[in-house]
Amino acid sequence: MYSEKVMDHFMNPRNVGEIKDADGVGTVGNPVCGDIMRIYLKIEDNIIKDAKFKTFGCGAAVASSSMATELIKGKTVDDAWGTSNKAVVEALEGLPPIKIHCSVLAEQAIHAAINDYRIKHGMEPIKEEHKDIHDEERCE
Ligand code: FES
Repeated sequence: MYSEKVMDHFMNPRNVGEIKDADGVGTVGNPVCGDIMRIYLKIEDNIIKDAKFKTFGCGAAVASSSMATELIKGKTVDDAWGTSNKAVVEALEGLPPIKIHCSVLAEQAIHAAINDYRIKHGMEPIKEEHKDIHDEERCE
């Protein structure tokens, strides 16, 4: 059911934990499955210097947060915002359709953390695009 990459990031998640003096923190949850994801960002000169996460959720959510934090480290804030759930799924070498929403949670958590950073620095938050998730891709 899961790729080796997913199993690897689930069994050995990268970047677990919190950043005490984070520049941006984003917490999102899926009301259907009840899973919660929090991402912490350290940002210097518009670059994501560090990213950590805490996820209370399914294995795919843990693997998605692990991969998402790996993908955004070293990117500019704009590039990190553009890191879509599709990029996370691709990097994980796929997720089953009913687990796609777990990767969406990772994208939303990154967006929430970036907007927290923007608000703290006097910038307008970026409007979150509504993602259509097909019925078969929702939490059971
Ligand atoms: Fe809901 Fe994975 S985040 S089942």
